[in-house]
Amino acid sequence: MVHPAITARGLRKAYGDHAVLDGIDLTVAEGTIFSLLGPNGAGKTTTVQILTTLIGADAGEIRVGGHDASAEVDDVRELIGVTGQFAAVDELLTGRENLELMGALNHLPKKEIRALATELLERFDLVEAGDKPASTYSGGMTRRLDLAMTLVGDPRVIFLDEPTTGLDPRSRRSIWDIIRTLVDDLGVTVFLTTQYLEEADQLADRIAVLDQGRIVAEGTAAELKRLIPGGHIRIDFADHARLDAARSALGSSAQVLEGSDGLTLAVPGDGGVRSLRAVLDVLDAHRIEAGGISVHTPNLDDVFLTLTGKPTTQETVR
Ligand SMILES: Nc1ncnc2c1ncn2[C@@H]1O[C@H](COP(=O)(O)OP(=O)(O)OP(=O)(O)O)[C@@H](O)[C@H]1O
Ligand SMILES: [Mg+2]
Repeated sequence: MVHPAITARGLRKAYGDHAVLDGIDLTVAEGTIFSLLGPNGAGKTTTVQILTTLIGADAGEIRVGGHDASAEVDDVRELIGVTGQFAAVDELLTGRENLELMGALNHLPKKEIRALATELLERFDLVEAGDKPASTYSGGMTRRLDLAMTLVGDPRVIFLDEPTTGLDPRSRRSIWDIIRTLVDDLGVTVFLTTQYLEEADQLADRIAVLDQGRIVAEGTAAELKRLIPGGHIRIDFADHARLDAARSALGSSAQVLEGSDGLTLAVPGDGGVRSLRAVLDVLDAHRIEAGGISVHTPNLDDVFLTLTGKPTTQETVR
């Protein structure tokens, strides 16, 4: 692996006798997007707070950008930017003033601050709103400003705690585009928490599923999907005669789909071109006409249900 931007080993954190993080290991490669996916109360914010040196862990080792997060706190803080779960925007100030305030807090020269604020307002599509008070901004605009403020210190590693929770699908997509662009253009590393499976699926190079303070699975979206069975090809028929003929032609792996009207066959398979062609070839060879064919691939929702026994609280974005 490339030099990792973040590593954590054996992270533990308890509040009283409640073990919030129960031994967490994470590795995030530089220049990648890593997503910590979990439901309410899983420990996502606690993990971000520890990795960003806001709170200490009870046990464990953390390195960010090669620095030890407990011994070299200042070095870590210099490298990172954090967008918290709740916006850090000052509503009484304009967008530009919020950005300039961040510049001043980062001890940037005045001239540079003005230029940077202008550049960030452009990058985050806030030019027209830049001189209006942030209190007049929509949820999506506030999130964009919050993200822009995170970039002021030119961080190499950016932590985003639920960056799109509560946003409508369109605003969510625009934040996704911004995050992708950050990684592509600036080569930053992004550590992102989310409750949305689709968000992790869309953005993340790697995903860790957090449930009650433990990582219950980790991998690429494709790897996680492979963890669970259930991929199959569905074939619809106009009548039972055709379905029966197809079933004997395709062999014992073809089953009538449960819960269907008895006119759909399910054939286990990954849904790749090869497996589809094999099915079609058999139907052709036996001159059996199919009404329709579709591929069912397991989604991350299925993964979560399989791993934790609970469905997620996901709202689907269409
Ligand atoms: N300062 C605290 N004192 C006591 N308990 C806490 C504290 N901070 C968090 N917790 C508890 O730790 C657990 C995990 O909280 P955390 O905020 O990390 O979850 P989360 O995954 O970010 O949830 P959400 O999706 O709701 O933001 C919760 O049960 C919470 O009540
Ligand atoms: Mg949280």
